[in-house]
Amino acid sequence: MSTKKIVVGVTGASGAPYAVRVIQLLVEYGVEVHVTISSMGRRLLFEESNITTLCAEHFGVNNELFVIHNDKDFGSSIASGSFLHDGMIIVPCSSNSVGAIAGGLTNTLVQRAASVSLKENRPLVIAHRESPISAIDVENLGKLSRAGAIIAPLSPGFYMQPKTIDDLVDFMAGKLVDLVGVRHDLPVRWC
Ligand SMILES: Cc1cc2nc3c(=O)[nH]c(=O)nc-3n(C[C@H](O)[C@H](O)[C@H](O)COP(=O)(O)O)c2cc1C
Repeated sequence: MSTKKIVVGVTGASGAPYAVRVIQLLVEYGVEVHVTISSMGRRLLFEESNITTLCAEHFGVNNELFVIHNDKDFGSSIASGSFLHDGMIIVPCSSNSVGAIAGGLTNTLVQRAASVSLKENRPLVIAHRESPISAIDVENLGKLSRAGAIIAPLSPGFYMQPKTIDDLVDFMAGKLVDLVGVRHDLPVRWC
């Protein structure tokens, strides 16, 4: 059986701890993870999680299972439909990236890899974060949903009685990896 491959896009919305936890979980469950981070995504990783450089050592894994792709490198494997992967999660996903992807723009590698996922009919999970949202965001999210994306707003539930911020982060991160078919034991399911 070949190793599962998941692409993770990180953009400049609030919620960097979710991105770090999603990557950690994927790595923990033996997934080959391909990560690309927009320039504001890098800033938010620093502002919210004090991370200056996200690298394989951060997750205790080797470079074969954890690949970072430069957000401006449109020649990178994840920019192409011929790169066979099992899904993409954009976490957190800014309104800017939602609008660009909904409009068919590919100005960053996150946007290009997302467009490719849609055209190739591969799972694309959009973990949008903004509040409140305008009619423009609502329309863009609707458009992405009709194009086949899974819209998973970063809004953790409380029915598992979280005690810490880590519990809240785990709740959402667990939901997101569920959506790309990676099974885990985190307490995110009511039944
Ligand atoms: C501290 C900080 C927090 C931000 N939080 C959000 C947010 O939660 N949602 C959002 O859509 N944009 C947020 N932004 C604005 C985006 O970073 C900005 O729109 C940027 O153009 C996004 O670019 P990207 O989609 O290429 O990452 C935030 C910016 C900063 C500096």
